[in-house]
Parts: sequence; C-alpha cells; structure tokens
Amino acid sequence: TYSKDLLGKTVLISAGPTYEPIDPVRFIGNRSSGKMGYALAEASIRRGAKVHLISGPVALPPPQGANVEYVETAREMQEMLFKHFPSADILIMAAAVSDYTTDSTLAQKKKKDGTEWTLHLKENPDILSALTKSRHPGQTIMGFAAETSLVRKELQDKLRRKGVDLLASNNISEPGSGFGSENNSILLLTHDGSSFEEKSGSKKDLADWLIDRIILLRNRILSH
Ligand code: PMT
Repeated sequence: TYSKDLLGKTVLISAGPTYEPIDPVRFIGNRSSGKMGYALAEASIRRGAKVHLISGPVALPPPQGANVEYVETAREMQEMLFKHFPSADILIMAAAVSDYTTDSTLAQKKKKDGTEWTLHLKENPDILSALTKSRHPGQTIMGFAAETSLVRKELQDKLRRKGVDLLASNNISEPGSGFGSENNSILLLTHDGSSFEEKSGSKKDLADWLIDRIILLRNRILSH
C-alpha cells in the first residue's frame, strides 16, 4: 500500500517518443517505449493524484485511472501540454521529444525511383523551456535528460537552461538502462543545482523514488 500523498494534486506527465512524418507512411522518431513515463503515471495514480498523461505513440496499455491524450508530433504534444499545464501542480516531462522535424512532409507516399531523397530538417521548439517560462507559483517541474555521458556540470547547466526544479538524467549508453528497457539508472539533480543522488532499479521503483523527491522538494519550499 502507498500513502495517498498526492491526493488533491494534479500531475501532468508526458511519455513516449514523438513522430515527425516525412510522408504518409514514414516518420522520424526515436526509441522511447513510454515505460518510464507510464510508470510515473501509475505511481502518481496509486498515490492519489489526478493524472493527465500526454502520450506519444507507444505499445503500452493506458494506465488505469489516467486521463490519456494521444499525440504524434512534437507540435501536437506541445499543444496538449500547454492546454493542461495551467491546472497542473506537478509537471513531469519524460517524453523523448524529437528535436528535429522536416518542413517538407510529402502529401503522397514517396515512390522508389532510383534517385536519392534529401530531407531538410529543422529544429522543433523546446517544449519544456517554453512551459517553464509560463509557470505559476506552486508548480513543481521535473525534466529528464537523456545523455550518453553524465557530466555533472553540463547537467547543472541543463537544469538552469530548462528552468526545471529537478532533472532526472539517465545514462542511455549504459546497457539495460534508458530507452526501451525495464530498468533504468538515474542521476537526479535538485533545484539548488548542488545535490546529486543516484539510483538504479526497475522503472516502477524509480517512479516512486522520483515522486518521493518531488514531494520532499515541495514540502521544503512550503515550509519556508
Ligand atoms: O520511454 P522509455 O523507453 O521508458 O525511456 C525513457 C527515456 C529514456 C525516454 C526517459 O527516461 C527520458 O530520458 N526522457 C527524456 C529524453 C529526452 O528527450 O532528453 P533530452 O535531454 O533531449 O531533453 C531534455 C528535456 O527536455 C526532457 O525532459 C525532454 O522531454 C524535454 N524536451 C526535449 C526536446 C524538445 N524539443 N522539447 C522538450 O520539451
């Protein structure tokens, strides 16, 4: 059993990849399975929260009790997150948003004709940075970072740049952790930018640990 320490709170969570179409059948995507974000949604529900889960295309069943909105592109994800952010107490941004999209999506399926196909990619908006700029007092924001090496100074810079209170970084080059796996290995940085904590385990256990850390930080801020 879990204590209902999120009772009365609304938690907004993003999970999974985004797909950026290049023609009606093909897309640019990434290897996020949604497991980390879905585990966070399930943990939040167990602990009494009302959960809005904004999910990219994944093969997971919807967490029971969550209000799930399915999106495909980064633009759609941004729109949905901005719709629900004003009423959220906590935002957890676990989605792997595609940093690139194309400005030349074909309306018809590209047929093979023996020639090369050159794609022109442009940057997608940084959804998390845009959201944190519109935050109101009392909201707690956790970002994720997918890195192939965990340099603490770079994580501190990322926490500040994104304007988040907590940054959960996973080393995606470690075998059995990061994209797609059941387990994960996280280095967590909290908002004064100085304290790091590390934990490895199942995404389910890590989800509860991350929520503990969010609640601890909220209580510390409230008691000041
Ligand atoms: O889904 P799983 O298979 O379980 O894998 C989990 C995970 C590895 C995908 C997850 O734990 C994770 O790390 N998600 C964030 C991946 C990522 O996009 O990291 P990033 O370092 O590129 O981005 C940093 C933060 O900014 C993230 O919170 C991301 O959601 C956000 N972002 C990134 C790009 C962008 N255009 N907009 C964003 O909001």
